Amino acid sequence: MIMGNFLRNRKSIRDFKSSKVEFEKLEEIKLDLKVLQNEEGKDNFAFRLYENGDRLIEDLSGKAGYAGVMIDAPHYIALDFLNDFDSTLIYGAYNMERMITTLNEKGLSTCWISLENLDQSFKKETLGDSTNNIEYILAFGYQKPQPPYSEAPFSIKLGIEDFVYSDEIEKEIDTDKLDAMGLMDLFYYIRFAPSRKNLQPWRFILKDTTIELLLVYEDWDRYQLMDAGVIMYYFEQMTKSLGIVNQWQLVDGNIYEGQKYKYKSIAVYQL
Ligand SMILES: Cc1cc2nc3c(=O)[nH]c(=O)nc-3n(C[C@H](O)[C@H](O)[C@H](O)COP(=O)(O)O)c2cc1C
Repeated sequence: MIMGNFLRNRKSIRDFKSSKVEFEKLEEIKLDLKVLQNEEGKDNFAFRLYENGDRLIEDLSGKAGYAGVMIDAPHYIALDFLNDFDSTLIYGAYNMERMITTLNEKGLSTCWISLENLDQSFKKETLGDSTNNIEYILAFGYQKPQPPYSEAPFSIKLGIEDFVYSDEIEKEIDTDKLDAMGLMDLFYYIRFAPSRKNLQPWRFILKDTTIELLLVYEDWDRYQLMDAGVIMYYFEQMTKSLGIVNQWQLVDGNIYEGQKYKYKSIAVYQL
């Protein structure tokens, strides 16, 4: 379960060495970004590489990230939304995670940084006039060595029973059923996917031949769709490793009222 192990170890890294990534690696990354852009981004989203991270650090310090905590890194990749469709947020996030997998394979670490509340004209000044709507950047580079015996920071993740339901929302899943369907590992590992503020808003309803993806619909802002895109990517990677090759189909979101929360339906996966 290679993808599973990858996910288990996948962490946001916030301490980067200041040294730049080697020229050859950066050239490969540029090529990877170009391919992803042409195949997936098209007219919906664009990836923009900022090779000289120092300039962004100076401008975004105290402004970007949670409560203005900018993450200093030698390089950044911005995710530029070219339109306002929900699918653009979802697949923008999906493909940024795809890029993160590529960067991790090259020995590089990453962390998403939110620019959600920054003024558009300030962003254009900082990130370039030709950009459209950059709401997220990705810090990347080499992780600073950790002092020996230091405890690696980790984020608490939901238990499977907290986000996987049977037939209807909030109906407890029988884990034997998950096991019998060969889906236990998949749900065990995708919990390690990153999410904004580690809110883990995704929920899954397992039906006979489909799985429905929903998001908790409380304090809703559109950016929660980013978390859907991220989890959809890892779910598809995990199913691929189980020999199921299918893709999520987006749906026009019903809202469900549960006992605990309201939920918005996002996508359906045919088993
Ligand atoms: C769309 C998105 C935006 C994020 N924005 C930030 C951010 O602004 N600052 C930050 O430190 N981490 C950010 N993160 C990282 C999450 O906080 C992190 O994934 C979560 O806490 C779980 O930790 P882990 O990635 O180490 O498992 C973001 C993650 C996502 C998916």
